[in-house]
Amino acid sequence: MEIVLSGIRSTGNLHLGNYFGALKNFVEMQHENKCYFFIADYHSLTTHPTPHDLHGSVKQVFIEYLACGLDPDVATLYRQSDVPETAELYLLLNMNAYLGELERCTSFKEKIKQQQNNINAGLLTYPVLMAADILIHKSHKVPVGKDQEQHLEMTRNFANRFNRLYKVDYFPEPAAYNFGKDLVKIPGLDGTGKMGKTEGNGIFLIDSAEDIRKKVMRAVTDSGPVHPNQEMPEAITNLFTIMNAVSSADTVQFFLDKYNQCEIRYGDMKKQLAEDIIEFTSPFREKILDLSKNDAYLRKVVNEGAQKARESAAKTIKEVREIIGFKNL
Ligand code: TYM
Repeated sequence: MEIVLSGIRSTGNLHLGNYFGALKNFVEMQHENKCYFFIADYHSLTTHPTPHDLHGSVKQVFIEYLACGLDPDVATLYRQSDVPETAELYLLLNMNAYLGELERCTSFKEKIKQQQNNINAGLLTYPVLMAADILIHKSHKVPVGKDQEQHLEMTRNFANRFNRLYKVDYFPEPAAYNFGKDLVKIPGLDGTGKMGKTEGNGIFLIDSAEDIRKKVMRAVTDSGPVHPNQEMPEAITNLFTIMNAVSSADTVQFFLDKYNQCEIRYGDMKKQLAEDIIEFTSPFREKILDLSKNDAYLRKVVNEGAQKARESAAKTIKEVREIIGFKNL
């Protein structure tokens, strides 16, 4: 049986990118594999949240996971900080992670531009902590979006390096996973780039119908094609990418034909897209609101998840310590 793991930073509500990049795949895999899903709350400390915000967002993300269909009876759902073995593995892997490769990492280069007054060591070693998350359960498959591809490549490097250094075949090579298809990148509606929390362009599962309509109607477009079958600019491709995710194939084809015949009216397309997003997200929203009232259930899920995750993590860390040479005298 394969081991599948994925996680999400606890820095805000879940958006369509999180859902289509990671959660959807995970939910579809949870019955056939041994699955772990966690909230990366250690990782979120790189931005220095207040204790109040940290606590609130961890709870909120946990609720939103469950609303997306993660089943705590089959998958292990936990908070990263409930498994301190992860922090120990992170320390051990750090001894084998080199400054050059960490500085070259794309996400580090982006982050140091975004938070120039807070370029902390946690940002630099972010991929090592991520590798520790994955390797602590000796995971094989990691359902993630396109933006995490490089981190997975680095995880494989750290795993292989550990195996070579200690002449063992201990850690498997984990792969970023989307059912053999390309990894997904859901774009934002601001013309370029991906949908993200820090980008401020997210359509969130918790958004009201009114918010969604406003966001979609504001999406960047252009003055429309002037030749049949004209190449599509990025902003329009992005609208179609989101439409592909939430609308029926017929709807997408209808607007594609209109585009290719230079008859497209972006206002109509956006109205349709907004209604399809609302239809798609409203069941999640209802479940989120429902679960928010059920603290006792949440506590039970968090406690059971922590226990199950720690069992697996403790086994790995015990074996890793022995491999490294920390043994009983
Ligand atoms: P985070 O919290 O930024 O995103 C969580 C997941 O959502 C995916 N995602 C997207 N997929 C497609 N299109 C988008 N626009 C989009 N935006 C986000 C991400 O690819 C990710 O799968 N470092 C991770 C959290 C993490 C983790 C791990 C993930 C920590 N340790 C170990 C997997 C395994 C992060 O910041 O994801």
